[in-house]
Amino acid sequence: MKFFLPLSVFLLVLTGYVRAADDPAEGIKTATRVHEIFEAKCLDCHGPELPRPKGKFGYVLDLKRVAENPEYIEKGHPEKSELFKMVFNDEMPGEDANVPPLTKDEKDVVKRWIELGAPEAPQIAGDSSGASANKSVEAKPQMPVWKKALRWIGRMHPVSTHFPVALMFVAVFAEGIAWWTRRDSWLQTVRFLVILAALGAISAAALGWINAYFASYTGQLAPILKWHRWLGTGTAVWSIVCAGLVVINECREGSTERQRFRGALLLGAALVGISGFLGSALIYGLDHYAWN
Ligand code: HEC
Repeated sequence: MKFFLPLSVFLLVLTGYVRAADDPAEGIKTATRVHEIFEAKCLDCHGPELPRPKGKFGYVLDLKRVAENPEYIEKGHPEKSELFKMVFNDEMPGEDANVPPLTKDEKDVVKRWIELGAPEAPQIAGDSSGASANKSVEAKPQMPVWKKALRWIGRMHPVSTHFPVALMFVAVFAEGIAWWTRRDSWLQTVRFLVILAALGAISAAALGWINAYFASYTGQLAPILKWHRWLGTGTAVWSIVCAGLVVINECREGSTERQRFRGALLLGAALVGISGFLGSALIYGLDHYAWN
């Protein structure tokens, strides 16, 4: 009886020690791999950017939150965890997914992760280009302040794009009035609008490059980002061409220069519209103008 208390304390400490001993390193490694697997195979339908994630489950990369949801995970018991069962039986990612089911190896990783008590993954910084394992295995250090500031500046990209979009469209409108009224004075307005649009487009494109550097779009979204990036950059360049045409030439109504400029402006407005659409598709999905 005398030994009971110290003994039980000893046992408690021992079990705690043993658990701690096999947990952290393996836990972090496994969680990091699970994060990578989910990023590659689940993000298309359960990503945080989606307006309507499938099954109302839009946080697949937030491993902590996933682990805390008893409907998905029963810590320590993969065979009782709904998420593992779905993945194991190839129900997730489903047949209609763009990605193949998990390999046996990947299933084992998910299983092991739940056996270990579904630990959290270390903070994984923006880039996801490397599906390669060892790249993100070591925990990433905190982002330096300048980088954080840069990331914050990049977040101004979506709001900044409203300027070139609206200004180009209004420039087309003003150019339409110029054509209709045949008044040369409207050229001043068009000039003003196109120059501002070009400045806005250059800023928006620069911010876009910064924003994309910190973003991670995988699956279906990766090619959209590529198109958006290059069309957007092209649009900025084209808007400079438009500004050049309208500034350098006298552009009297009816002249060839004016017609050339008019064509360039229409093309620029179309480009800015398409780039904008692709940009919003990154956030809301390609079908965000669907009626239903
Ligand atoms: C092609 C799209 C798609 C992919 C990829 C996908 N899922 Fe799903 N997922 C769905 C759909 C659709 C549902 C809703 C099914 C239902 O409610 O019947 C769902 C539901 C779920 C649910 C249940 C949500 C709930 O609360 O009902 C879990 C858990 C889940 N998925 C996990 C995953 C995991 C883990 C992956 C990656 C290994 C994955 N899914 C990949 C489409 C997908």
